Amino acid sequence: MSTASEYLELVRHLMAAVNGRRIYPPRHPALDRTLSRIEQALHHLMVSRDEVQLGVLGNHLLADGLPWEEQEEPLSLLSQELRSRKIDKLTFQRGFTRTDLDCLLEVLCGDQASPGTLLPESVPVADLLAGRGVSRIRVGHLNLEAEPSALGAAVPSERGAYEDAVSGLSDAMDCASTGRFIRTRQIVTLVESLMEHLARDPAPMLMLSTLRGHSEYTYTHIVNVTILTIAQAQVLTDDPEIIREYGIAAMMHDMGKVKIPKEILDSRARLSEADFELIRRHPIESLHLLRESPGVSDLALIVAFEHHRRFDLTGYPALPAPLPQHFATRVVTLADAYDAMRSNRSYQREVPPEQALQILQQQSGKMFDPVLVRTFIRMMGAFPPGTRLRLDTGEEAMALKANPEDPFRPIVRLVVGTSSEGERLKLVNLAERDPKTGAYLRSATCSLP
Ligand SMILES: [Fe+2]
Repeated sequence: MSTASEYLELVRHLMAAVNGRRIYPPRHPALDRTLSRIEQALHHLMVSRDEVQLGVLGNHLLADGLPWEEQEEPLSLLSQELRSRKIDKLTFQRGFTRTDLDCLLEVLCGDQASPGTLLPESVPVADLLAGRGVSRIRVGHLNLEAEPSALGAAVPSERGAYEDAVSGLSDAMDCASTGRFIRTRQIVTLVESLMEHLARDPAPMLMLSTLRGHSEYTYTHIVNVTILTIAQAQVLTDDPEIIREYGIAAMMHDMGKVKIPKEILDSRARLSEADFELIRRHPIESLHLLRESPGVSDLALIVAFEHHRRFDLTGYPALPAPLPQHFATRVVTLADAYDAMRSNRSYQREVPPEQALQILQQQSGKMFDPVLVRTFIRMMGAFPPGTRLRLDTGEEAMALKANPEDPFRPIVRLVVGTSSEGERLKLVNLAERDPKTGAYLRSATCSLP
């Protein structure tokens, strides 16, 4: 049995136990059988590791820090259960006992099974377990820095900052759509939080920006554009003030979209010339809205007005005389185009990342500043962090970090191995060569959807 199927077995049994406990009292034979299966599944997994870890990222369940290939039902059910108990990570350590498993089940759902013993929401599950003397089963937060094995999963604080940015932006756009001032201070705070996370380590944030499961395209797209803008700015300069201004301009650039009816924005049908005209007006609408709001910088106004103009001086709004884009607009435009290509929208399927990279190269010097295209590719590679890849060995991997020297050879973590099960979850540099022949040991053949 492969490690992936052993994990799946474990999750199935955990879900069966959680559901069973809602029907049966503690130590019922049916529950005992399920707990024995959990024990067995854990022992199987612990043959090759000291601990087994399940994590939650959004609606996804992670095994040892890596998302499953397919989020089958038991996986999403368990991730919901854990999320509802504010658990991001569940770790079983070698030496756990059957009593520990009993306690875990009671702590996870004993309160829901017995309405008379409702536990206060505020008591953290970790404390409840500790209070019962359980030390070999731990709950908590994924911590990328402290746990290199968790690489590949964004930590909850990044996720929180991302979600805050999406909801804060949605508030700001609501204000704009109802004719109220945009709360500039709120946008600045959101941008500063994204900056802080990106400065510490860009990988988790970039990974969140590439997750395709987000709803609310308009807001997530703008947050992604902001993340990609800040990440580029951090490569280009050390000056936090410039990075901050670029991030704020990115987050405000599309405010004028609130003036376009939703039916037109989301339309799958061919748009009329009048509809296109309305869409082409949104940079001017953005300019008007931002100009009327207090505390908005000139840079934000410039970027909002220019963001559909191009490096080759074409684009819209049309100008009486050709005027080069501001450098900040070029950074935002690149981020905007890249994320739009990588997003699944009602009228356009997402473009695979390696193809998006090709389009950036084709449009270098036309739509985009060639210097920025090169910087962007060094930063993201053909396979940005979080992309699943097929390798020429038949293995599957997840890209973790771009290789600035070769966009097609990132550092990856093997997700599904071929011959040796021990290779699974191994960190591999795709730039690594066979010392005797000089040939690459592994190469990515394509990204996986
Ligand atoms: Fe736009």
